[in-house]
Amino acid sequence: MNGKRILLIIGGGIAAFKSLDLIRRLKERGASVSVVLTKSGAEFVTPLSVTVLSGDAVHDELFNPLGEADIGHIELSRQADLIVVAPATANMMARMASGIADDLATTVLLATDKPVLIAPAMNVRMWEHAATRRNVKRLAKDGIKMVGPNEGDMACGEFGPGRMAEVPEILDAIEQNISAENSNLVSLDRKGPLQGRHVLVTAGPTREPIDPVRYISNHSSGKQGYAIAAIARDLGAEVTLITGPTNLKRPDGVWVIEVETAREMKRAAVKALPADIAIFTAAVADWRVKGKAGKKIKKAKGKSTPDFELVENPDILKSIANHKSKRPDLVIGFAAETNNVVEYAKAKLKRKGCDWIVANDVSEEGGVMGAETNTVHLLTANTLESWPELSKSDVAERLLRRAAAELSGITQAAE
Ligand SMILES: Cc1cc2nc3c(=O)[nH]c(=O)nc-3n(C[C@H](O)[C@H](O)[C@H](O)COP(=O)(O)O)c2cc1C
Repeated sequence: MNGKRILLIIGGGIAAFKSLDLIRRLKERGASVSVVLTKSGAEFVTPLSVTVLSGDAVHDELFNPLGEADIGHIELSRQADLIVVAPATANMMARMASGIADDLATTVLLATDKPVLIAPAMNVRMWEHAATRRNVKRLAKDGIKMVGPNEGDMACGEFGPGRMAEVPEILDAIEQNISAENSNLVSLDRKGPLQGRHVLVTAGPTREPIDPVRYISNHSSGKQGYAIAAIARDLGAEVTLITGPTNLKRPDGVWVIEVETAREMKRAAVKALPADIAIFTAAVADWRVKGKAGKKIKKAKGKSTPDFELVENPDILKSIANHKSKRPDLVIGFAAETNNVVEYAKAKLKRKGCDWIVANDVSEEGGVMGAETNTVHLLTANTLESWPELSKSDVAERLLRRAAAELSGITQAAE
């Protein structure tokens, strides 16, 4: 980032305080930072703090005789390598999407030909509102890039998507975007065989609590699901990745929802509908312990080992494959088996009501869990294909290209 010039626009949201830290971190990395503070932004952070941290007078007025002596609003964008809007409020996104230029920030944004990265931050209802959904799509078409928002607790006391991405995530996104070879930042302007499709992917293990410190889980690494999410994005889809706990880096440009238990995963999957394609790679625990202990279960001399009663977890694949009103056009399950892989997969296809099953051998000899490659069989209602050993990315690409072709067949048949 050394020597790069960032124009940071700070909008009027609670998350504006994080942008002060963003200024510091950018400067630490050798970037120069100019800041435009919206009128509402100045309700959350003071022009003085911004000036001191950025080392540059804050820009907050469009009609500023001094600034405009050299057409300052055009000059601001001309000097920048990248414009970052953080926090991008719902209001700011709406004005950007409509091409409104009624203050310094929006005028600069309309007058620029530089790349623009937004970090949305807002209450979950604002984020999920149809108007904001429309604006996100519009901005995508206009080539605006986006980082976050994340899901989590909000200042307003609610929980859900809408929290501004954390400063390190925004820094990552900025770094990728100003490097010439940038390819993986969330380019919302997507092209490819899955353009305009929403792909839902589940990945990783679930964790079923026993007590506050112990849980039941499995060895799923999440690599296959993450590869599918990343390739679906590269093929042009809007992607929602619902992930159990993994050590993997979240793929850029993908809407990531983190969960722990099977029940949370199911709730998140249903909420993410409608989707055109749903792919269930997560290794969901079949059972959970009935009634999690509120306190750590203690070992004591003479005390017998604890007995756990297990209850069945919800069947996420089956419930989405049989969803009454929002069943995705293509529902694909993954079957992880340690023996009789194909026979069990055939039975699973029927039992769950999904369209395709990708079966893989997760026996210790198969060595799939955590590995970089996978050897799978693709089962549809009438066909069985056995693919050679491929990298998990290649499995993802082959599967998604097949899915894209299948979907365009379905769409044509419906027309
Ligand atoms: C306490 C408070 C917090 C707010 N937080 C947000 C927020 O996080 N995201 C958002 O989109 N709007 C938020 N708003 C509303 C915006 O400040 C308002 O829509 C404003 O017009 C945005 O102006 P701007 O887009 O020019 O910065 C908040 C308002 C208040 C009073």
